[in-house]
Amino acid sequence: MEKNILRQFQQYFGKESQIAAAPGRVNLIGEHTDYNLGFVLPGAIDKNIYVGLTPNTDYLLNLQALEFHEKYSFSLDNMHPVKGWPTYLLGMIYMIMPDKRLPFGMDVVVTGDVPIGAGMSSSAALCSAFGLALNEVFHLGLSRMDIALAGQKTEHLFASLQCGIMDQFASLHGKAGHLIKLDCRSLEYEYIPFDFPDFRIVLVNTMVSHTLASSEYNLRRQQCEAGVSILKKYDGSIHSLRDVQKDLLEAHKEELDETVYKRCRYIIGENQRLLDGCDFLKKHNLNAFGKLMYESHIGLSKDYAISCDESDFLVEKIKNLNGVKGARQMGGGFGGCIITLVEEKAAHGFISEIRYKYEEKFNKVPDCYLMNISEGAHIVKPKA
Ligand code: GLA
Repeated sequence: MEKNILRQFQQYFGKESQIAAAPGRVNLIGEHTDYNLGFVLPGAIDKNIYVGLTPNTDYLLNLQALEFHEKYSFSLDNMHPVKGWPTYLLGMIYMIMPDKRLPFGMDVVVTGDVPIGAGMSSSAALCSAFGLALNEVFHLGLSRMDIALAGQKTEHLFASLQCGIMDQFASLHGKAGHLIKLDCRSLEYEYIPFDFPDFRIVLVNTMVSHTLASSEYNLRRQQCEAGVSILKKYDGSIHSLRDVQKDLLEAHKEELDETVYKRCRYIIGENQRLLDGCDFLKKHNLNAFGKLMYESHIGLSKDYAISCDESDFLVEKIKNLNGVKGARQMGGGFGGCIITLVEEKAAHGFISEIRYKYEEKFNKVPDCYLMNISEGAHIVKPKA
């Protein structure tokens, strides 16, 4: 793949460009816990967004996406949010170039194979790849965490999604064969080997990409904060749902709006599932881990209400298929992908069966992906 990309960029620019790659992510468990300052367990995937960049002298940001045959030009004097994918690049420039006056313009080309709208974080991958390229070209000396935080702020201010840090962090810190247990409050992290040669992570795409996803997402965040503002009256050390114990929530259940109570119950349970899940993975207990994935899905569907008919159908059907340990809605929700753990030898049979069952019900064939946990964002060096 990378050789091909290098050739494409070379052809396009007619000279060498700075090329950076950044992957999408999976998340094994710990969904919507990041902005509640709890834990997540993502891993980078072997699907990347590639950004090629060369300086120009006309002080413009010229953008092109190879797949879409779209071209855009922006003046670098005025970075502001726009519709569509260019907003992520404008946002990254705004966030990471402190004096906002660049020494030269840039021609930027984007391509890649992270499916868009499938819940694998193509936008975080785009921000991460572009951030890494800017860091190289302008010698900014930013750390990977700096670039991840700039990506998160870009989502907040240039794409109106009040997301947590998981996606950008995972894209920039991924390590082949490892998941990352990230503490979203301290930003400390630990690599946990995903060392199960007889098992595969398989993503099943609902092919649903909900248009309300960002407004519902932001609403979940507000509901969690509403819970915290009431519960902290009873314990001054509470700053986020990460700090709330189940007993405290139950003791004050009546004071919370029913929806807020359910959102809080899910997050508190999910954070505990993540902590237990990491212990199970370290003990190589995939049966117990898989059970937690199913519990997570029930919480996401009933209490957090970010699943959809297609996701619930898939998890229900997947449960009864051969060789499966666990399955659940992954990522922001409202469609996107179901993440499953499947025995290697059963994986191909699993894919054809679930495709058949889904098509029979919804009249469309779901894309399925066998994932490999891979390296995070990197500079793609042309071969000397
Ligand atoms: C999206 C957000 C992340 C995270 C997940 C849900 O991917 O970008 O920050 O909240 O949803 O876990």
